[in-house]
Amino acid sequence: MKVLFVCLGNICRSPMAEGLFRHHFERSNLADVFVTDSCGTGNWHAGELADIRMRKTAAKNGINLTHKARQIQHEDFEEFDYLLVMDHENYKNVVKIRPDYADKVFLVSHFNPMYQNQIVPDPYFGEQADFDQVYDMLNHITSELVIYFHQNRK
Ligand code: 4NP
Repeated sequence: MKVLFVCLGNICRSPMAEGLFRHHFERSNLADVFVTDSCGTGNWHAGELADIRMRKTAAKNGINLTHKARQIQHEDFEEFDYLLVMDHENYKNVVKIRPDYADKVFLVSHFNPMYQNQIVPDPYFGEQADFDQVYDMLNHITSELVIYFHQNRK
């Protein structure tokens, strides 16, 4: 099952989601079940590592973020089974690119009983604590996504 995480810049939220999702499926010995990547709706940061503040929060929790930012491509809609976005703006922008694939696009919190349909707030103009909060939210959501997708895989 292939899962693509999408945010605006692909340097804060979605690379963290990708890193955490991978961490959780590897820890559950499901590396042969899942493939994951991340991307942004914008291209301003293409080629860059994640924001240093996001990498600090990740490293503090034992996760090394090596993803380099890239913009979403038309092919991603065919390649991935799920495109999981962080907020309503991401949703609108992603669906606009390929409306025919809208059934693959969900808020990352969509399947989560605790955070259902809450957005993951953009921490870019915030403080380190905002990055820690994004981490906590995505840690919870992605660990449960591994279980949910594994149980409900096609
Ligand atoms: P992200 O955060 O979408 O979580 O990667 C942002 C990163 C950069 C910008 C906005 C949001 N920016 O405006 O450059």
